[in-house]
Order: sequence, then C-alpha cells, then structure tokens
Amino acid sequence: MPLVLLTGATGYIGSHTWVALCAAGFDVLGVDNFANSSPAVLPRIAHLIGRTPRFEHIDVNDSGALAATVARHGVDAAVHFAAHKAVGESMQKPLAYFRNNLGGLVSLAEALQANGSRRLVFSSSATVYGSPKSLPIREDAELSATNPYGLSKLHGEQLLRELERCDPAWQVACLRYFNPVGAHESGLIGEDPRGVPNNLMPYVAQVAVGRRAELQVHGSDYDTVDGTGVRDYIHVMDLAEGHVAALRHLFDGAGSLTANLGTGRGHSVLEVLRAYERASGRRIAHHVGPRRPGDVAACYADAELARQRLGWQARRDLDAMCADSWRWQSMNPQGFETTQQAEAVR
Ligand code: WQD
Repeated sequence: MPLVLLTGATGYIGSHTWVALCAAGFDVLGVDNFANSSPAVLPRIAHLIGRTPRFEHIDVNDSGALAATVARHGVDAAVHFAAHKAVGESMQKPLAYFRNNLGGLVSLAEALQANGSRRLVFSSSATVYGSPKSLPIREDAELSATNPYGLSKLHGEQLLRELERCDPAWQVACLRYFNPVGAHESGLIGEDPRGVPNNLMPYVAQVAVGRRAELQVHGSDYDTVDGTGVRDYIHVMDLAEGHVAALRHLFDGAGSLTANLGTGRGHSVLEVLRAYERASGRRIAHHVGPRRPGDVAACYADAELARQRLGWQARRDLDAMCADSWRWQSMNPQGFETTQQAEAVR
C-alpha cells in the first residue's frame, strides 16, 4: 500500500484529504506544525479512519527533521498543503509568505528526492488567475498574481515545472482550488479559522451559530446576477477526492498535469446566504457594505480538464455544502478547542 506524506495534515483541507486517502486504500503519514490547526483534530481523524493516525509534529521548513522523517518512513509520494494562505495577511508579511510557502516547498522536494521519490501533488489556487479576462476559467488562461500569497502559489507551480524540466523523473500535479467550503458529513471535522474569518462561508456559519452578530456583504453593485460577488464553491470532500484521483493518476504514470478543482458553477453571496438559511433554519443577519479591495466580480472554473484526465468531477451541490457546514458548526460552536487549549499545546 503506497505511503503518502500529507503536509498541513491537520488543517481544513488536509484533514479531509487524510480521510479520503485512507478510504481509497492509501497509507498516510501526516505532518503539521499546528501554526493554523489544532492537535484536537487527531483523535477525530482516528475515529474516521478506524486506526491510530501516523503523525509527526514537524514544520516543513525544518529541512533536517523533514528529510529524516521521509527517509525513516519510506514515503512514496506527497500531497503538500502546508502554507500560509491569507491574502490580506500576505500583504502585511510578504517575506514571511515567500519564505514559508516557497521555502517549505523546496524543503519537501529535497526530502522526497533524497528518498528517491518524485511524485508530488501541489496545493495551488485559483488566485493564480488574478482578475480573470473570461469565464469560465480554463487552465491555459493568463496567470497573474495580485498579492504575495498568490505570487507564492504561482511561483510554486513555476518552480515545480522547472524541476520537472531539469529532471523528468518528477511527476507533479498542480491542483488549483476555487472556493473550498463545507465539512465531512460526520460533523467531526470542518473549517475552524483562527480569529475573525476572512472567507464567506465560515463567517456565515458563525453568524448562524450565534458567534457573530451579522455578515457584512462586501458590495452589491457588481455586474452579477444580484450585484454580489460570484464564486465557484466546492465541497471540501469533493476537493479531497480530487486529490485521490490526482495521486492515482501519478501512480499510474499518466504524467504531470495542472487542473482546476471547481464545480464549473458560480453562486452569489446572497445565494449562499439563502442556502445557509435553508440548511440551518436560522436567519442570517446581514447588511451591505463597501466592496472589499482586491475582490473580483465573478470567478468560476472550467472543470473539464480534471474530468477528462482524472476522471473526477465535483458531485455535491450548494445545499449539501451548507448542510454539512452547518452540522459541523452546530456540533462544534467554538470549533476544535478554546484558545487556552491551543496555547497549552504550542
Ligand atoms: C467570497 C465572496 C466576497 C466575506 C479567497 C482567497 C483565495 C482562496 C479562497 C486560498 C466574495 C464575499 C466574503 C465576507 C462577503 N484562498 N464575502 N463577506 O475572496 O473568493 O477567495 O478564499 O487559496 O485565494 O482570495 O473567498 O470567501 O473571502 O469571498 O461578502 O465577510 O464572499 O466579497 O464575493 P475569495 P471569500
């Protein structure tokens, strides 16, 4: 059974991918430094995969520790999630984002190469498209970065493509996520952002559960169906299953690829809000405020390439995304833990 190293394994997308990989028959070794996640995830992963999870508390930028771990366990491939991912924060700390996101990627590639493994799935983002010139967005669309976070993802892809050019033994899948939302159907794991959520769905979830007073809608004068921003929301379990399909593609020797992981369909902020009210039975208080700097009116994927080359497509609709998000949030009103518990672990 191939052993897959998962970096950022206790994070939102990492934890859901852990469950999907085990369900698909892979053996998984998770690593994380808990910079943006909680060790409280681990017993829940254990429950969901039916065994003690293989995990090591490591920062991927600690090259020595990572190389030793990869060599000790004999890793066959890696899925690389570990990165800082807040657009706004990246504008305030650009060098920290470049060092952590690009340095961590190089550290991982070195550890894999030293161990004779050259299969890597890279967590990229639709943010590499900048402000899209046409919709839906295809993988061959113009790329541009509008913030240091997006630049770190764009350069991560370029670094891996150059690595392949120099050493064709590398097989790399760059997966460009659109807007991951929702939670595992068990309600045991889900999105638990630190502080005030930047993203729409976790903020809406916290209003529904009573942690936040009301949602501010960032602008209602866009050229969209109802004036509010349109995005391609994808269920996190569909996203996780997309990683399983990408790993199978690499293990089959079917070659490197870059693929959008989206549904191909856009929903507005107000459509998301109404769907969440249906799912939760709660009214979501909201008011319209000014546009958020850097936002685009609409962004959604052409998802055809992943369907053709990976045999994968998103299956869960917006109502399922909201229902699973609400189950997680209502079962865990304060997320995985209080701040005190988090500090105690660090
Ligand atoms: C979605 C829509 C907002 C919050 C971001 C990152 C991107 C990727 C996914 C990492 C927009 C509106 C939001 C709120 C609102 N992350 N909104 N009130 O901006 O599409 O993408 O997350 O890869 O890199 O940029 O997602 O959820 O922040 O916003 O009205 O309180 O919801 O204006 O139209 P976004 P989002």
